Amino acid sequence: MSVDVLEAVKSYLSSIVEEGNPWDEWMKTVYEAAACFGEIVQANEEEICPHYSASSALISLISSFTPGRRNKVVTTELDYPSIGVPLAALKKRGFDVEIIRAEQGLVDVEKFRKKVDEKTLLVATFHVSALNGYMQDVKALSEICEAKGAYFLLDAYQSIGAVPIDVKKMGVDFLVAGTTKFLLGIPGAGFLYARKDIFDDLEPTAVSWFSQRDPFLFGPEDLDYRDDAKRFEMGTWSVVSMYAARAGMRLIMRVGVDSIWRRIMKTRNYFVEEVEDAGFQMFSPDLEKIGPTVSLFFGQDSSTVERRLRSKRVIVSARGPGVRFAHHFFNNREQVDRVVEILRKHFRRN
Ligand SMILES: Cc1ncc(COP(=O)(O)O)c(C=O)c1O
Repeated sequence: MSVDVLEAVKSYLSSIVEEGNPWDEWMKTVYEAAACFGEIVQANEEEICPHYSASSALISLISSFTPGRRNKVVTTELDYPSIGVPLAALKKRGFDVEIIRAEQGLVDVEKFRKKVDEKTLLVATFHVSALNGYMQDVKALSEICEAKGAYFLLDAYQSIGAVPIDVKKMGVDFLVAGTTKFLLGIPGAGFLYARKDIFDDLEPTAVSWFSQRDPFLFGPEDLDYRDDAKRFEMGTWSVVSMYAARAGMRLIMRVGVDSIWRRIMKTRNYFVEEVEDAGFQMFSPDLEKIGPTVSLFFGQDSSTVERRLRSKRVIVSARGPGVRFAHHFFNNREQVDRVVEILRKHFRRN
């Protein structure tokens, strides 16, 4: 929790205590948060829609899709369930959902090339895997999609704020992410990026009063879509989360994602050297294939390891059989040394 984010949460609390419902200020905050998200992924403000989670962003987007000549969606088994579960529901609407299998913790780009065809409407997959830290070659994937005319959606939850993202250069059509990881926010804020020339033709059915050109009509409504990505909105936001999101993203932008990524790589590499030296086993693929996070395999229940480390004030995440360590720009070598010392003292080497 950064001081800035904590202060932002407090300022939300005072807004509600002192002013009741300062709606204009709240809306301004939400849309400024959306603009910050746009800057971080290098998109225009009109291409960003505020949401609650990566799931809600995806759900509103795919509510625009009906099966036609293109009736197939593709994802991978390494993707987070926030992608897989909403896509699985598309089967009920007549879509085929294809899941590419992973091998040794990786999904070969060639597997995408084989699966994506002229019937594919959407490929939705991760930038960095929550399970093992594997970072995909986004440009290669977007080119495969473009060649077949399929939309390409990136789940950037595990990379945004840590790894530079440029949706235009990377060829990303849609992007979803929340703010609780490297963006330093709190739960309840997520965003959708949708490319302008695509969303113009999309008519979501999971909509709300804010999807309308004039949300404040307050009459018998006639669905008149906004002409920006806010047509994917789903009602009154979690405003406190947006206060936190704006503060977290402003901090990230002040430091700069390029320098954050360089710094994380240094700390991450040092961590990997030290844990390997201490005899611990990597669950993540090799360093050149991963993003900001590193997972280790302890040969025992990963949730137990997570709890034991937490009791020693080391916060990690159990994901499958691995335990994920995430370093941010504010972590330093001394902290890595302390963590490795705790690991050496309390955990068995493999
Ligand atoms: C890659 C990835 N996608 C999505 C999510 C979360 O999705 P949602 O905001 O829908 O809960 C996470 C959370 O850990 C994640 O790591």
